[in-house]
Amino acid sequence: MAMTSLHDLFVHHMKDMYYAEKKLTKALPKMAQKAGDQRLRSAFEEHLKQTEEHVKRLEQVFQQIGEKASSSTCEAIDGIVKEGEELMSEAKQGEAMDAGLIAAAQAAEHYEIARYGTLASWAKMLDMPEAEKILHKTLEEEKKTDEKLSKLAMEQVNRKAA
Ligand SMILES: [Fe+2]
Repeated sequence: MAMTSLHDLFVHHMKDMYYAEKKLTKALPKMAQKAGDQRLRSAFEEHLKQTEEHVKRLEQVFQQIGEKASSSTCEAIDGIVKEGEELMSEAKQGEAMDAGLIAAAQAAEHYEIARYGTLASWAKMLDMPEAEKILHKTLEEEKKTDEKLSKLAMEQVNRKAA
């Protein structure tokens, strides 16, 4: 195995997230369109705006470290998005579709939370406080989105029980 520095790992994961965020900007409009519940649809639309902002923030970090913003294929997000697409082609519109969309979106959020958490701590270790701050801001937004999705899932369960 080649000896990769922490800085190299950081850059690699930045490219991976740049790919992932851009991929999600394409997936989210389709998810919003398939959502039956109005609040779920707005949650996806709102998160699309945030995701576009996340792409810009990554570009800021690239600029700070003197790297050109570029993507490297992230197989994890490809897999999560592909699974979501399969679900959208198979699930019945309505309750099952919405539950599946929430599950797919949370899988993406959890992946992003893991990655941004790592990137933020690596930025700290590499003594890049500005990058750390930016990455942390996105991390917090991903966490909030995840919480919102959990809430919508619970409301769906409660509605069903009522
Ligand atoms: Fe994001």
